Amino acid sequence: MSTGAPHEQAGIDELRWWDLDEVADHDAAIFGPTAWTLTYYWAVKAQAGTAMFAARTPTSALAGWIVMSAAGGEADVMTIATTEVGRGQGIARELLRAGIGWALSRGAEAVHLEVDEHNEPALGLYRSFGFSEWGRRPDYYPGADAILMRFHP
Ligand SMILES: CC(C)(COP(=O)(O)OP(=O)(O)OC[C@H]1O[C@@H](n2cnc3c(N)ncnc32)[C@H](O)[C@@H]1OP(=O)(O)O)[C@@H](O)C(=O)NCCC(=O)NCCS
Repeated sequence: MSTGAPHEQAGIDELRWWDLDEVADHDAAIFGPTAWTLTYYWAVKAQAGTAMFAARTPTSALAGWIVMSAAGGEADVMTIATTEVGRGQGIARELLRAGIGWALSRGAEAVHLEVDEHNEPALGLYRSFGFSEWGRRPDYYPGADAILMRFHP
């Protein structure tokens, strides 16, 4: 939950290739068995129609990141996370704004994502942003269904 407005002090910028090592390390710590590998981050970064944004504190600590894809009027939130220093300060909401803003600039009319049915913080984030649930993929995650959500900007 947001406790104030420290996100106003966190800058959001394009995530550069030299950030990928650090992001992959945090990803492994946060997502465990479902984490993206560094190799996968490199492959997505090289793919056309994708964008990555990072939030950093004034001291340049990584506070969070988002990976988007967009093509043919449809966009996806491929992944999003905030780090220990960034969590609960409204930074994920700002990252979503940045990612969806990019998707809009690419002509997206709908934004899709999948989320673990038990991931209450992420469900809370997406619902409060305006995403709605439209389906479910049984056993998509280890021991959990994926809830399919979409947002029409
Ligand atoms: C989900 C996640 C990105 C949220 O990041 P965050 O920076 O803490 O979120 P924000 O501070 O921007 O919160 C925005 C909104 O999300 C919701 N939210 C955040 N944390 C929540 C929690 N623990 N429980 C319920 N809702 C929560 C709230 O609606 C919140 O708005 P509010 O504070 O005005 O009520 C973060 O918990 C995370 O990185 N989790 C691990 C990775 C992950 O699960 N990623 C999503 C994969 S689908």
